[in-house]
Amino acid sequence: MPESTKSATLSFDGQQVDLPIFSPTVGPDVIDIRKLYAQAGVFTYDPGFTSTASCDSTITYIDGDAGILLHRGYPIDQLAEKSHFLEVCYLLLYGELPTATQLEDFEQRVTHHTMIHEQMHNFFRGFRRDAHPMATMVGVVGAMSAFYHDSTDISDPWQREVASIRLLAKMPTIAAMAYKYSIGQPFVYPRNDLDYAANFLHMCFSVPAQTYEVDPILARAMDRIFTLHADHEQNASTSTVRLASSSGANPFACIAAGIACLWGPAHGGANQACLEMLKEIGSVDRIPEYIERAKDKDDPFRLMGFGHRVYKNTDPRAKVLKQSADEVLELMGVEDNELLKVAKELEKIALNDEYFIEKKLFPNVDFYSGIILEAMGFPMSMFTPIFALARTVGWVSQWKEQIADPQMKIGRPRQLYLGALERDYIDVENR
Ligand code: CMC
Repeated sequence: MPESTKSATLSFDGQQVDLPIFSPTVGPDVIDIRKLYAQAGVFTYDPGFTSTASCDSTITYIDGDAGILLHRGYPIDQLAEKSHFLEVCYLLLYGELPTATQLEDFEQRVTHHTMIHEQMHNFFRGFRRDAHPMATMVGVVGAMSAFYHDSTDISDPWQREVASIRLLAKMPTIAAMAYKYSIGQPFVYPRNDLDYAANFLHMCFSVPAQTYEVDPILARAMDRIFTLHADHEQNASTSTVRLASSSGANPFACIAAGIACLWGPAHGGANQACLEMLKEIGSVDRIPEYIERAKDKDDPFRLMGFGHRVYKNTDPRAKVLKQSADEVLELMGVEDNELLKVAKELEKIALNDEYFIEKKLFPNVDFYSGIILEAMGFPMSMFTPIFALARTVGWVSQWKEQIADPQMKIGRPRQLYLGALERDYIDVENR
């Protein structure tokens, strides 16, 4: 932690408490309230963590007002343009861009861990065929701790490293297997001669009767989707991973917890929810009805793929994906489909509507990723598993950072209790 050079004074009930202030490399100052309860006997209240830093970190920085996302200082648009997913993984995990030799060694290590224990195939077969691939992934990733117990000792740096590589390498295999299982096709083994994104497309779309020829434009678009989803500082699923890990849980269990959290429609599930919404709208002439519903306070409907807790100007990931969407749709010859027309018109209307302007709601990363993934041939149920696959490196990097911190404590929030006062138990016959 940096030295505190400033402090804030909290006055209430006739007492004053001095609280140290920390200044980050960039971004708002942070008031340290860790000793507040001990000194003043009060808690702070911030259920959605809108004003609370839950940890210190050197991995990712977001300036939501300016629409900036940096990984280890590098802007996301430069990484999406000039780098590729595995290089970004190295950057997130180890803090610096790799040299050519380091990159080659890292790619080699990831590539040679892509197969999963053969016994895990039986584990997959225990699920119903119609299970959502996210449900299968939560189960299978959690079960990795039963298959790879030689890398669950979190006090051993070597085991932590092996677990990190295993998670990164096996996640595409697991996501592809969850997909294949759900459509009743045989599992496809990974290929070491393909890069990370191309190998994932191969495992999803090859069948024993015909090898899928991976188009380099699609592989590049897939790689970009992975890169753009790699990390996003202390979002809900990452905070879930950190909270699970703070108790000393093993890495596979922690990442399974992250997958479970990501599944929700307000988080990673939004890409599926967004495409479902576009399909429900169906045609351009029905858009005004849905815009009205989104504005209606008494209607729970929200425009999925719009808005963000942190970005209040633009989502820098969405800008890059919009360009990828155009490339992929042209390649697949679907630039003219109805769904896309609805998406483009919706975007145009929402960006010019007073309600959306005032509330700073604009398309987020999920608005475009679903359109691209559908054009590639993925069913909607695979959108969130692909997000989970890509975010694994972010979760693992944040987990590693937390475990290595000597100040790590179990995460244990307090509460504002509004329940009944102490009362005596009444026997059931007297109630
Ligand atoms: N459509 C219509 N109104 C909205 C929307 C929306 N998508 N999002 C927010 N609002 C309104 C909301 O009703 C509220 O209005 P008021 O101030 O009058 O009560 C105001 O905008 C602020 O909303 P909030 O829920 O307090 O904002 P939040 O920061 O808690 O929520 C959000 C952020 C992303 C959960 C929310 O914008 C949302 O539900 N969006 C749709 C789901 C979505 O696309 N999620 C993906 C996020 S990006 C991927 C990721 O990082 O996981």
